[in-house]
Amino acid sequence: MSIYARITGTGSALPPKRLTNADLVAQLAQDGVETSDDWIVERTGIRARHFAEDGVFSSDLGAEAARQALQAAGRRPEDVDLIIVATSTPDMVFPSTATIVQRKLGIAGCPAFDVQAVCTGFIYALSVADAMVRAGGVKCALVIGAEVFSRILDFKDRTTCVLFGDGAGAVVLEAGAAPGILATDIHADGKHLEVLCVPGHVSGGQVLGDPLLKMDGPAVFKLAVGVLEETARAVLAKAGRTEADIDWLIPHQANIRIMQGTARKLRLSMDKVVVTVDRHGNTSAASIPLALDHAVRAGQVQRGQTLLLEGVGGGFTWGSVLLVL
Ligand code: UT7
Repeated sequence: MSIYARITGTGSALPPKRLTNADLVAQLAQDGVETSDDWIVERTGIRARHFAEDGVFSSDLGAEAARQALQAAGRRPEDVDLIIVATSTPDMVFPSTATIVQRKLGIAGCPAFDVQAVCTGFIYALSVADAMVRAGGVKCALVIGAEVFSRILDFKDRTTCVLFGDGAGAVVLEAGAAPGILATDIHADGKHLEVLCVPGHVSGGQVLGDPLLKMDGPAVFKLAVGVLEETARAVLAKAGRTEADIDWLIPHQANIRIMQGTARKLRLSMDKVVVTVDRHGNTSAASIPLALDHAVRAGQVQRGQTLLLEGVGGGFTWGSVLLVL
């Protein structure tokens, strides 16, 4: 009998500090950086984002999201036998943020590790967890996306600092006889790594190179629209499904125009697309599980429905997961 991995609970966390576009515009103006609510809304669909207070780390947001997901699944921390955290803003160089989350949840002994695939991180993490569950070794996994991108933003660069926010989302993934995750599809192409990166590194006790986010937005946009259609078609083909089977598209929340483009190519109405970019901005690896949890708790997305999750980001990385909730 086949083993499937199925999401049995979702959770999320947002830091309380919320900045509307007007708040951010006013803050940036103090440093002579010009932008406007109109530009941000028209080009991205973003209206607000959350920023973590000093001293709040990805592991804090990730642990909070995980607690909620465990509660929703009716599981306790001691039931967890795998923790994967997708993040590009880890608490430390090492150990992994996953081991810090593990400690904060009071869990000991199970494997815990991070996945680094920037905004595609949650899709990668879910694909790895799915494979480990189906291989038979894992019964109850926590898969988390957690980020504090505000820490790596250059607030002098208006082309990037208005786009991102902080947050976390988590799912409990359990082994069972019924699907579950139907198919996964993940990719990378390192030749595009310069289009979105934080080029700095730590050496000899110093940060060498630039430790702030750099992005060629139009180049990322162009790449994203192409690969998101490709991976959607690939994952549907692997599962023997078509666009008509999709109840909800839950894409990485970077830009409403990218989501509209993907929906158009898949002939999906925007009524079938979960959109949270307006409220959260781009939270990188956290954006998909955050959007999923918000849609579940709002009663928008229901058990038994077919969801297409899609991510794209630095690396260049991209991928998708097709699942029955
Ligand atoms: O999470 C990983 C994936 N990331 C993404 O998917 C991001 C993909 N890229 C994008 O979403 C878009 O490319 C952006 C939102 C980043 C930029 O939108 P765009 O429509 O591609 O604008 P652009 O970069 O071509 O800039 C258009 C104009 C430029 O002025 P000129 O050269 O036409 O005079 C920019 O300088 O808008 C200007 N601009 C701004 N103006 C006001 C750029 N940023 C701002 C700003 N406020 N914040």
